[in-house]
Amino acid sequence: MNERASATLDELASDPRLSGRALKRIAFDEESIQKRVGEMGREITDAYPDGELLVLGLLKGSFIFLSDLVRHIVRPLQVDFLVASSYGDGTVSSGTVRLLYDPETQLEGKDILLVEDIVDSGRTLNRLMALLRERKPRSLEICALLHKRIAEGLQYDAKFVGFDAPKEFLVGYGLDHAENFRHLPYIASLV
Ligand code: PRP
Repeated sequence: MNERASATLDELASDPRLSGRALKRIAFDEESIQKRVGEMGREITDAYPDGELLVLGLLKGSFIFLSDLVRHIVRPLQVDFLVASSYGDGTVSSGTVRLLYDPETQLEGKDILLVEDIVDSGRTLNRLMALLRERKPRSLEICALLHKRIAEGLQYDAKFVGFDAPKEFLVGYGLDHAENFRHLPYIASLV
């Protein structure tokens, strides 16, 4: 851990957002996330010179990343959401994916960019990509802020990735533990 991250961790020991829960380390601080999200917005802008772009956020985890990201995509676009759930209150994937909300927007003929906060086991993406392909989009790509690079049998990999993530349970910037900590502006691992 660098000196700056370590100092930040000490400062955060009394962060009222954590309700006393200790952090093991800060994996990505706010400044690094904002810088990378800006770069990703520029990459995405360049990758879609034409066509109707639909940015499809996978809730709930992607809500903060998506809101920051779309403000760095400098071309026309639409936003919609999908709701799926694969984890319960634990820290290990349950392996089942449930689709709780289907996007209202017509997907056929559009360039779909599916936005994920993190690719972990890859089960969520395998299931959702198969489902979305059936809607006949013009193109279908994945944009993930974090990628653990542990997914086996990933049928569709992410075209845009923010950071390779440590193999730890991460919270913040949309990522939760039992629905807590999504609002942290940084990404950290819990003790
Ligand atoms: C988490 C995370 C990803 C998915 C990744 O979502 O936000 O969507 O799991 O895991 P996988 O690669 O092992 O499938 P979760 O189901 O916890 O819902 P949430 O987005 O509401 O937190």
